[in-house]
Amino acid sequence: MSNKMWGGRFSSAPDAIMEEINASIGFDQRLYAQDIAGSKAHAAMLGAQGIVAAQDAEAIARGLDTILSEIEAGTFAFRRELEDIHMNVESRLAELVGAPAGRLHTARSRNDQVATDFRLYVRDTVDALDAQLADLQRALAQKALAHAATVMPGFTHLQTAQPVTFGHHLMAYVEMVGRDRGRFADARKRLNECPLGAAALAGTSFPIDRDATATALGFDRPTANSLDAVSDRDFVMETLAAASICAIHLSRFAEEVVIWTSPSFALVKLSDAFTTGSSIMPQKRNPDAAELVRAKAGRIVGALTAILVVMKGLPLAYAKDMQEDKEGTFDAFSALSLVIAATAGMVRDLEPDAKRMEKAAGQGYSTATDLADWLVRALDMPFREAHHVTGRIVALAAERGIPLHKVPLADLRQVEPRIGEDVFSVLSVARSVRSRVSYGGTAPARVRAQAKRWLKRLGDTPA
Ligand code: ARG
Repeated sequence: MSNKMWGGRFSSAPDAIMEEINASIGFDQRLYAQDIAGSKAHAAMLGAQGIVAAQDAEAIARGLDTILSEIEAGTFAFRRELEDIHMNVESRLAELVGAPAGRLHTARSRNDQVATDFRLYVRDTVDALDAQLADLQRALAQKALAHAATVMPGFTHLQTAQPVTFGHHLMAYVEMVGRDRGRFADARKRLNECPLGAAALAGTSFPIDRDATATALGFDRPTANSLDAVSDRDFVMETLAAASICAIHLSRFAEEVVIWTSPSFALVKLSDAFTTGSSIMPQKRNPDAAELVRAKAGRIVGALTAILVVMKGLPLAYAKDMQEDKEGTFDAFSALSLVIAATAGMVRDLEPDAKRMEKAAGQGYSTATDLADWLVRALDMPFREAHHVTGRIVALAAERGIPLHKVPLADLRQVEPRIGEDVFSVLSVARSVRSRVSYGGTAPARVRAQAKRWLKRLGDTPA
């Protein structure tokens, strides 16, 4: 039997492999709620415009409500020979309400229908992700506030560079996640236009009201060009690009957790709740959650790459290639949702080892810059020269295997006779971070203010 939705000019059924490659119901059934909402808005508009009789529009609406509850109850039978969610719903509607069902597809095509459904889906997803990202920011800022003065080694090239505070480090991620939310919000603004009514590609001869359907579905306005409306997947590419950048941020954080919790560093502890054991090595505590957060970035970026390559070279308007926009997107967004939740969980769970952190912060002559800055301030030395003098002192300390603050004053004076006793006051890591009071700097007072500002913005009253 040929397809009952479009089989008029067909005399026989598709090859089994044709059906297999063509059908999307296996994955696009996830769009059922959006599809039904779109159809309800369309039917109501057709009724209001007198394009279909009022009682037909009502019958369609009732039938669609029944279908929604059937799908939600798990009693709806999805059929692959009906290809996709759109035709599965419409076919069931015909069973439920009879003839009026055949009027629903007036002034509409699956091309504008799927574009509408998918925009609604992506919009809902972006809203849910934004709430999760806000929660992650809260977790980070709360932990940062608790550790605004906990000194840790700051790294460049993963070499100990200058002491920073753990709170400052965590607040860096609050900023990154803030930009992620900004990217999603920005993409959401652009995607919030309604393609419904573009029909197959050229618009329609029926007197439809596109503003009415756009408003009913919470869109800001209808899309302005029917060809663009059915062939545009920018909203997928943009949101997946935002998702990819976000996933990369979380992956960087995850990598830090892996490093910090490694016994060779041992700067941070994760509790049993976020650690796994080894089946052979009884001593092991593995940061699997962090590793998987790191790895999921791969599949999210993969989904972005896939849609970019699918769209590249597609002539206007719709082509079936575009059906490939969905699976990767569904997968990427659920992966992102999971990694955000796992990251927030780890942030709340992890505790820094303040003693080890402070000790590590002082290693590798991390306060050398403080010494150079002291020479500039106290002796009015040009910074370049101060850098050189400090380098000689570091070399001397390294030769003896002692930290900077253990170099006797007499030896410091061998290098620079004008150095006084008060130089020692700047050489501790705590003093170092306390002195970094420039805007955006690591001084505990700055970090506290930053964390409080964010928590207020996030609707959280700091403890
Ligand atoms: N399942 C299709 C998709 O996801 C719906 C649109 C089909 N349109 C068409 N002209 N065959 O893209």
